[in-house]
Amino acid sequence: MATTIRERWTSRPLFIFAAIGSAIGLGNVWRFPYLTYEYGGGAFLIPWIVGLIVMGIPWMMMEFGMGRYFQKSAPGVFEGIGKKWEWLGWWPVWVAFLIVTYYTVVMAWSLRYMVSSATMAWGVGEAGAEGAGAYFFETVLNLSSGPGVLGAPVGPILGCLALIWVILFFIMFKGARVIGKVAVWTVSIPWALLVVLLIRGLTLPGAIEGLNYYLTPDAVALRDPQVWFGAFSQIAFTLSLGMAGMFAYGSFVAKKADLTNNVFITSFANCATSFFAGFAVFSTVGFIMQGLNIPVGEVSASGLGLAFVTYPVAISMMPVVPALVGITFFLCLFLLGIDSGFFLAYGGVISPIMDKFGLSRIKATAIVCVIAFLIGIIYTTSGGLYWLDIVDRTVSFYGLLITGALACIVIGWVFGAKKLREHLNETSDIKVGAWFDWLIKIVVPAGLLFVVIWGGFKEDIFAPYGDYPLWAASMIWVILGVTLILSFVLQAVKTRGPKEASES
Ligand code: PHE
Repeated sequence: MATTIRERWTSRPLFIFAAIGSAIGLGNVWRFPYLTYEYGGGAFLIPWIVGLIVMGIPWMMMEFGMGRYFQKSAPGVFEGIGKKWEWLGWWPVWVAFLIVTYYTVVMAWSLRYMVSSATMAWGVGEAGAEGAGAYFFETVLNLSSGPGVLGAPVGPILGCLALIWVILFFIMFKGARVIGKVAVWTVSIPWALLVVLLIRGLTLPGAIEGLNYYLTPDAVALRDPQVWFGAFSQIAFTLSLGMAGMFAYGSFVAKKADLTNNVFITSFANCATSFFAGFAVFSTVGFIMQGLNIPVGEVSASGLGLAFVTYPVAISMMPVVPALVGITFFLCLFLLGIDSGFFLAYGGVISPIMDKFGLSRIKATAIVCVIAFLIGIIYTTSGGLYWLDIVDRTVSFYGLLITGALACIVIGWVFGAKKLREHLNETSDIKVGAWFDWLIKIVVPAGLLFVVIWGGFKEDIFAPYGDYPLWAASMIWVILGVTLILSFVLQAVKTRGPKEASES
């Protein structure tokens, strides 16, 4: 068999930037600050840091390390462990694929809002504060009455989505070489923009009260298991683990390069960004509370509501250059999203397809971009938001945690955690000790399965998720089942293997 040359990051910093870029995303800005506020303020940092150390860091070492060991993306790694495990490499590929179909739609909203901010389309002053909700749900999304009523795609969002896929195509079709270079910008510009937003936030009246809400510790919260589940699933989500991509990113690392140190840099940079973003967000939330004279509990500080309703409310109330603050915020969201987008599409889907089917990079990239765009159209319809929510619960909660737990078990017990640790230690500055084996073999998978069972099944099996009609909520199980079956189908397909994986 001819030896093929694996594509490579062109330098260590470019790999680190690409890894940080994949981890930092919308979740750092909207999910982390909200969870912290909701789950005990400053006290939440304890389970979150515990989750980072006992679960996030070893898990990331595992994904990078296995990718580098086999020089393959996820399916190739599991095929390398044993032919019968290949499906376990494909399942997270489906997870990554489904995530990118809707993640890009949220980016499309951000693009749309950059334009809206220029003219403050939801209104200025009081009118804007009142109109921001209606603007998002009615004007921008044209939201229907439920998941059964899809309606037509909304033009401007569809246009933005198409544009995003064109941009992603041009970033990805040359592979790791270009991805690393782009990531330097898509990481450092949002950092700079966050600093601007923080300064703006802190100089607004009410900022300090906002920060008090964000960080005042409530130690009692630590006794609530939900708080620990929240912290653990957030760590998995924020580090972009469990969705195949990190295996591929690790496989582009040369065999002699350091890994463990890079994992520490990546995970700490990501978590520091989350913590920092919380200041920018909550200083602004404090400003709204103060301006509208309402308690923080009534200001929606979570998820979509935070980014596309609450923040616009704050913008319309700002005394100076509100439009500019708006453009800065949505540009920041867009840039935060884009490197997670190419991580999911390239590391998660395109690289595995190239490895398995020997397609050229440009062909694989084109196929994935077109199909993902076509599926994404569903979320641009009037009923799209409901489906986005259901698919998100399916893949970014269940998919990610279940495939992650299974991967740890198979790698820990079948491949051997010790063998992986020795591989990591061969080239790394920071040596990992035997503790690593037990984390991978027992602690991480057990922790993840706990979260799935107590934090997930208990909620969604006995009552339909999110109060959706039963048929719509059941799609969670249908999607999980179908993607699992398709993973076995892909395992059964015989191919010639990679033809051209080389970087000239
Ligand atoms: N880690 C990203 C965030 O915090 C989310 C993400 C999930 C990105 C999955 C890529 C893949 O927003």
